[in-house]
Amino acid sequence: MNKLNIGIVGAGYVGLATGAVLAKFQNDVIFIDISLERIKSILSGRTPIYELGLNECLNYGLKKGYISAFTDIQQVDRNLDFVFICVQTPVTKDNTPDLRYIKNAAKSIGTFLKRQRKYAVVVVKSTILPLTTERTILPILEKYSDKKAGKAFGLCMNPEFLSEGSAVQDTLNPDRIIIGQYDNRSGSSLLNLYRNIKCPKLRVDLRTAETIKYASNVYLATKISYTNEIANICEKIGIDTIDVMKGVGLDKRISPYYLEAGCGFGGSCLPKDLKSFIKLAKSHRYEPRLLESVSTINESQPLRIIELLNSALKDMKGKKVCVLGVAFKPDTDDIRDSKAIPIIKALIERRANVMVYDPKAMRNFKVLKLNIEFAKNIEEALRNADACIIQTAWSEIKKLRPQNFKLMRNKIIIDGRRALNKNDFTDAKIIYRAIGLGRR
Ligand code: UDX
Repeated sequence: MNKLNIGIVGAGYVGLATGAVLAKFQNDVIFIDISLERIKSILSGRTPIYELGLNECLNYGLKKGYISAFTDIQQVDRNLDFVFICVQTPVTKDNTPDLRYIKNAAKSIGTFLKRQRKYAVVVVKSTILPLTTERTILPILEKYSDKKAGKAFGLCMNPEFLSEGSAVQDTLNPDRIIIGQYDNRSGSSLLNLYRNIKCPKLRVDLRTAETIKYASNVYLATKISYTNEIANICEKIGIDTIDVMKGVGLDKRISPYYLEAGCGFGGSCLPKDLKSFIKLAKSHRYEPRLLESVSTINESQPLRIIELLNSALKDMKGKKVCVLGVAFKPDTDDIRDSKAIPIIKALIERRANVMVYDPKAMRNFKVLKLNIEFAKNIEEALRNADACIIQTAWSEIKKLRPQNFKLMRNKIIIDGRRALNKNDFTDAKIIYRAIGLGRR
């Protein structure tokens, strides 16, 4: 089989992971991103984002000569077999999708296809609401290429299910691959591209593929809000949610995943996709009551941290409160919709002096320009602190033992992610409170 030429438009988490893995399978991968900084960074072998294993994968592709990168697809000097659309699809303030980037990507791909003589398949990976591929992307591609889909080019909607922090692993070993196809030829071509990836592959139409993505993400969101609600009830009745969920997760129908209580789900996908799907349902005059509750629980969950802190430290004014972890989850530098943001804002409102520490995400967090201090390491964050909040369960934070907290002035620990082992904290000199941990 000849090497395939694959264009990846949008070099964010999804684009980089997809491209790096396709290069690993010995395809020629061309990244296209409007950010020159990003392109330079890719070509110099430094991934523009922190993602476990991505640097190694990218450097393998660069060394073998499989990877190139441009700021504009019109600079690509060869025919492409596939063009992946991996640009971001943010939402506006009222939760309607902002299709600016995806429309621009479709326009430039259409213009590129106009001069291409060979059949190519355009693959949409960005998350978009049902019907967007058919009603928005397809007409733009046809208009700008002056060609008809199905004849000159194919079209697929291939949702991405990777999680940040394990993007490369998830792309190499996915649970399933969903191929939404415009026609049979498009779907068969994409199926062939993924032949080396062993997992169930499901072929559906474009709008079903788009809906599978949303239905999956809102299910995960629902499971987490369910978990957090059970955790809040466990606190009230004096039991530990971890023990409860261990028992619940043994049921194969439920599974042990996404049963970890915490201060809420963040990130670039779950909160945004949930809100967009609610809005979509409403636009079809359906009231999604379950999903509304999932969202409400998630908005209030970070404030449980403040309640827990308040139960141990009544007046926060002038007190040093350190927040360990600002990334929305471990192994990523991403702070989008991180629950550290509402927690820290609530602390600032209560006039606490906030100092944060995160092994990877502080650079991104500084951009928010909150009135807080940044610690060089955990020790600096803990030194003379009156309370410590754990917001991200980074492995170095999970390793903390009671002796590490000796640096604090008041030994109050609020564990927002159940990162520590409660049995280590039985010493009466340390106050250890945690989400879902009831006190008898
Ligand atoms: C998610 C989906 O998992 C992925 O399939 C989709 O493609 C994109 O959205 P991601 O945003 O990387 O991926 O995060 P995920 O690992 O799902 O975690 C989301 C949030 O939920 C994090 O804030 C995490 O801390 C929280 N979470 C997760 C919990 O609070 N409890 C859990 O049990 C699991």
